[in-house]
Amino acid sequence: MDSFDVKSKGAGNDYLRSVKPMDEILRQDQFSRADLVRLLESAGADRTALFSAAAARKEEVVGKKVYFRGLVEFSNECSKDCLYCGIRHSNSKVVRYEAADKDILAACRFAWDNKFGSVVLQSGELSSSSFINRVDRLVKQIKALSNGELGITLSCGEQTRETYQRWFRSGAHRYLLRIESSNIELYHKIHPNNEHHSFEKRLECLRLLKACGYQLGTGVMIGLPFQTMENLAEDLLFLKRLDVDMVGMGPYIEHEDTPLYEYRTLLKSKKERFDLALRMVAALRLLMPDINIAAATALQAIDPAGREKAVKIGANIIMPNLTPSAFRKDYQLYEDKPCLDEDADQCRNCLEARIELAGSEIGYGEWGDSRHFKNRQEA
Ligand code: 5AD
Ligand code: FES
Repeated sequence: MDSFDVKSKGAGNDYLRSVKPMDEILRQDQFSRADLVRLLESAGADRTALFSAAAARKEEVVGKKVYFRGLVEFSNECSKDCLYCGIRHSNSKVVRYEAADKDILAACRFAWDNKFGSVVLQSGELSSSSFINRVDRLVKQIKALSNGELGITLSCGEQTRETYQRWFRSGAHRYLLRIESSNIELYHKIHPNNEHHSFEKRLECLRLLKACGYQLGTGVMIGLPFQTMENLAEDLLFLKRLDVDMVGMGPYIEHEDTPLYEYRTLLKSKKERFDLALRMVAALRLLMPDINIAAATALQAIDPAGREKAVKIGANIIMPNLTPSAFRKDYQLYEDKPCLDEDADQCRNCLEARIELAGSEIGYGEWGDSRHFKNRQEA
């Protein structure tokens, strides 16, 4: 099958809930939509069994190590207006910033000095030539300052094939672009309906990124208004069909200065969204055992130990925040974003302790590439 034939093949008869016993589902290596709904709705002993199965599968396939990706949110300027996002273009309350090159490079040097394998450069979405040139220059400078040793992930939104190719040639090798929801109707409910927020274009960008040679990362938000368990099960199957290398997904958290806030009464409680996000991580680890799964920062906005809980049941990537402290408060995608008052050193120390508590070790000085990507290359 063409790996980009990502449209759902239809739900068949699985609208009926799976009535299989949990232990039977957990022994499978293929999962129907109904099986996944079962996993996502599991509670009590069934949920404990799901978490143990996912933890065991993780250790067996990708090992115990957690890899750090130092996150530098280098600009909150954004041309888009996603209805859920605190830094959307129309939010005039946001103080816009662009970190200086020297500060971005200093954050990357911190990552390298502290043996983080990689950095993630993330920003709002812009397509001006000055933005494209700047990212290109930064990628080259990060490679140069680390003797080519720091891995570079970009998360700078939808761009043209030429731009993706250019950044790849300059040294970026992973790209994160979340699909947010793989259900087109839901996608349109959480984005303005105009050509700047096209579902098809998002899919096309994911296809381009893979064709350029990037390790591809995507993901969804969990607990959105209007989202059903079936939507989430289909999101998992979408990730599988797209054959992604990395996934970052976390709970949706409302932000009062965004249009989606109006629908907050439709939301599950934060605790329920958090629990559902953990079940999504565990189910994804069973569905795609060899990929990299990030413990989303949004988990920690709900539960102080949120990221560690995700590591225990399937995640293997953490993105410590290296954004220069002065700017952190201006990159508030959602309420209660953690680590606003900490600096890079404090986050590193804090996370080190937390990872140990979660019974894992940190893969210092390693890129920690997705095993799935390697398997894909070899195939
Ligand atoms: N709640 C949770 N996650 C959010 N993101 C943006 N806004 C929110 C929100 N309100 C996520 C999106 C985006 C990533 C950078 O942050 O999934 O892709
Ligand atoms: Fe930032 Fe703990 S990770 S303070």
